[in-house]
Amino acid sequence: MTAFPLTAAPAASDPAVSSERFLAGMRLFAAGCTIIAARHGGVRAGLTATALCSVTADPPRLLVCVNQKVRAHTLIAASEALSVNVLAHGQEAVARRFAGMVEGVAGEDRFQGADWVERVTGAPVLKDALVGFDCRVAETIDAGTHSVFLCRVVDVQVAAAPVAPDPLLYFDGHFAKLA
Ligand SMILES: Cc1cc2nc3c(=O)[nH]c(=O)nc-3n(C[C@H](O)[C@H](O)[C@H](O)COP(=O)(O)O)c2cc1C
Repeated sequence: MTAFPLTAAPAASDPAVSSERFLAGMRLFAAGCTIIAARHGGVRAGLTATALCSVTADPPRLLVCVNQKVRAHTLIAASEALSVNVLAHGQEAVARRFAGMVEGVAGEDRFQGADWVERVTGAPVLKDALVGFDCRVAETIDAGTHSVFLCRVVDVQVAAAPVAPDPLLYFDGHFAKLA
């Protein structure tokens, strides 16, 4: 695993930025909501995530950042695969389940009430997602509390509807839709 240089000394002239101020800034970054899901040895887990970034189109690569404490992290590391499921605005309830916002619903129970399929890697892909990216992990970077998974996209499931529904956004601590 490559290590992200978190401990590199800042330049003496750089002001210190607290985590609180950083988070206050990030709250104002509107992001699309996804479910990152994985399967290993018949066990499934997933989490709601906004830390997704396209890296290159040629070849197709994306990266996601996953807290090392979440259940799915172990499954992603073991299977070296994951899916990234981009949610539509009507799927806020799914986002809440996978964010741990529904009391008593964790692990496998989060997958109930929606259709999940396997495509290439075996990671669960949400059938009704706006887009489902099926990925193999090419490289893992240890970034302290989180791992950055650099992924090879091996399959893309695009919503069949002629007009794509609005995406589910997250902004300033709230789920939101395009105005
Ligand atoms: C809008 C939103 C975005 C999130 N983005 C991420 C993310 O990018 N990476 C991450 O590790 N956790 C993220 N989380 C937190 C996880 O969804 C949450 O901790 C989840 O319950 C973890 O799964 P677990 O309970 O199985 O450990 C996000 C939560 C919300 C509500």
